[in-house]
Amino acid sequence: MITLKSAREISYMREAGRIVALTLQELGKQVKAGITTGDLDRFAVEFLRRAGAEPAFLGYQGYPASICASVNEEVIHGIPGLRKLENGDIISIDIGSVIHGYYGDTSMTFPVGEISDEAARLMQVTEQSLYKGIEQATPGHRIGDISAAVQHYVESHGYQVVRDFVGHGIGSHMHEEPQVPNYGKAGLGPRLQPGMVIAIEPMVNVGTYEVVVQSNGWTAVTRDQSLSAHFEHTVLITEGTPEILTRL
Ligand code: MF3
Ligand code: CO
Ligand code: CO
Repeated sequence: MITLKSAREISYMREAGRIVALTLQELGKQVKAGITTGDLDRFAVEFLRRAGAEPAFLGYQGYPASICASVNEEVIHGIPGLRKLENGDIISIDIGSVIHGYYGDTSMTFPVGEISDEAARLMQVTEQSLYKGIEQATPGHRIGDISAAVQHYVESHGYQVVRDFVGHGIGSHMHEEPQVPNYGKAGLGPRLQPGMVIAIEPMVNVGTYEVVVQSNGWTAVTRDQSLSAHFEHTVLITEGTPEILTRL
């Protein structure tokens, strides 16, 4: 069932979205060569709790940390630890918050120092594809319109969209219906209505869209070891243009 959020629920989700966006912005400032992904995780927990929110990922289906920190060929669900970031890396940081029982979910890929032209272009195309998807998130459109817009933009720039993981509805649970794939056909899928909230989150690979989950049971990496980027926003469907709850 796809739920329509009440005014009260929307105000909680605005709060969750704002806090998690602020946390991600601050995390981005910490990203530099030498810092470990575990340092970033600890920073995130402290920042969220100070703002009155809880990390949404910690303990979710047994997930052992509060952010996902996915470096280079890691697509999503990189587990924070002792890995030190190096000049030239890219790191996708995905983070979720919960406050008053409502969730916010957002992700961005950041450069570490000086990165290759290819990495910079990948990040730019992935972020733009998210905005192409968000543009379609208006009443009367369907989920497939978002999916097709993301896929078309990405593929027209020579990259591929991951199939094995998708965006999602979000609210009093981090993952709600509907699924929001980053590939598909315009005109298909559930119709969008004001009051729906969805997380749109393209994962884009330079090479093949195929991914492999590592032996830790979580981390997805590109099958061909090519670079991957991931941008995500939590988006409220309104009568007019969509409201991005995780943008400051
Ligand atoms: N934030 C991820 C998503 O965008 C889900 C993370 S699941 C976790 O849907 F277990 F890693 F937290
Ligand atoms: Co996320
Ligand atoms: Co998400």
